[in-house]
Amino acid sequence: MTRKLIRNGRFFTPIDEGSPLAGDRQGRVASWLNGAMVVCDGVIERIGTESEIMSDMNSSRFDEVVDCGGNCVIPGFVDSHTHMCFSGRREAEFGLRLKGASYLDILKAGGGILSSVQGVRKISAEQLMQATFVMAVSAFRLGTTTLEIKSGYGLNIETELKMLSAIDGVRRQTSQDIVATFMGAHAVPEEFRNSADDYVKLIIHDMIPAVVGQGIARYCDVFCEQGVFSISQSRRILTAAQEAGLGLKIHADEVHDLGGAALAAEMRAVSAEHLLAAGDSGIASLATAGTIAVLLPGTAYSLQKPYARARYMIAAGVPVAIATDCNPGSSFTESMPFIFGLSVMNMGMTPEEALTAATLNAAYAIGMADRVGSFDKGKQADFLILDGESPAILAYHAGVSPVIAIYKKGKALEIG
Ligand code: NIG
Ligand code: FE
Repeated sequence: MTRKLIRNGRFFTPIDEGSPLAGDRQGRVASWLNGAMVVCDGVIERIGTESEIMSDMNSSRFDEVVDCGGNCVIPGFVDSHTHMCFSGRREAEFGLRLKGASYLDILKAGGGILSSVQGVRKISAEQLMQATFVMAVSAFRLGTTTLEIKSGYGLNIETELKMLSAIDGVRRQTSQDIVATFMGAHAVPEEFRNSADDYVKLIIHDMIPAVVGQGIARYCDVFCEQGVFSISQSRRILTAAQEAGLGLKIHADEVHDLGGAALAAEMRAVSAEHLLAAGDSGIASLATAGTIAVLLPGTAYSLQKPYARARYMIAAGVPVAIATDCNPGSSFTESMPFIFGLSVMNMGMTPEEALTAATLNAAYAIGMADRVGSFDKGKQADFLILDGESPAILAYHAGVSPVIAIYKKGKALEIG
């Protein structure tokens, strides 16, 4: 047994009360400004003030002492929505969008997601795994200790399974926790351009059983959007996924308010994601169902769209999480510090609300809250030391990462 003392830190954490934090509770963060944490075999044994802990425990009981230098300590980031399994960037498309081309028009013309599909279909599982590993490590260095990665650049059985096994390969190579999501319904592939319903049938009858048989994916996600998958197609896919035992997520109301949020609530999805265009009634249904809103401000930034209405959602009682949406099109960032900054400065969240959104609520959004997302006794000792006094440093010191040390299960990641 190895026992470590993490001392001389300003500790900030949401408190896990057994469900995602909503409304006023989202911004209620516990802090110990002369704090310490005891970690036993990578698991949190105790957190409190340093004087309290030292009066109960003799310093000879620790195998190692980590001095946080009086800096802020927070739980490791949980990036609950990424598409970082891809190969090849789309810089030319970014240039077109800067000149006014729309994201959905580019997709309709066979670009966007569909150009990433061509890239991913061409390469081997090993190459795809390596490309994804590079992204995951980059995120790790920015403080992401747990993350979700979606498939969805395959759009046929063989390549969707290849993506999921590449994601699983990354999971085995890194000490990050990784949750995989099947997203065969990310776009309608070229082969089905004029028969989208046939593609929906392929997803339901062939892809979902194959994905479940493979045993890697825990969730199923659908891009419910004008010109992509309609509400009724999304409902059919999600119903089949649920019957097959997968958890549900929806890319909802990203560009148009189709009613994706209401569908997420109706289907008891764990989360509705994006929501840039979500209307009041969709938001009200999320609050009633307790569905988590996973907000992705990197997408509003990159698509130059109005940000999601985080303040309205929090006031309505919706638990909010924030994530990168890391992908080569609509949000090319693996940086949770950047997302934290956007959430505070451009979505009006308080640093405390953003902290809960980037840790505990995000952990709930991917079914990992029993292990990560807060400094509660019994959870993994995943924590970050920030070069600052409080989580606000993540918004205040812009354009850099204030994350100076990263610990996963009590073990330091060497940054270099
Ligand atoms: O979440 N909206 C759909 N899917 C991704 C974008 C993927 C891509 O453009 O490659 C998103 O924004
Ligand atoms: Fe996405």
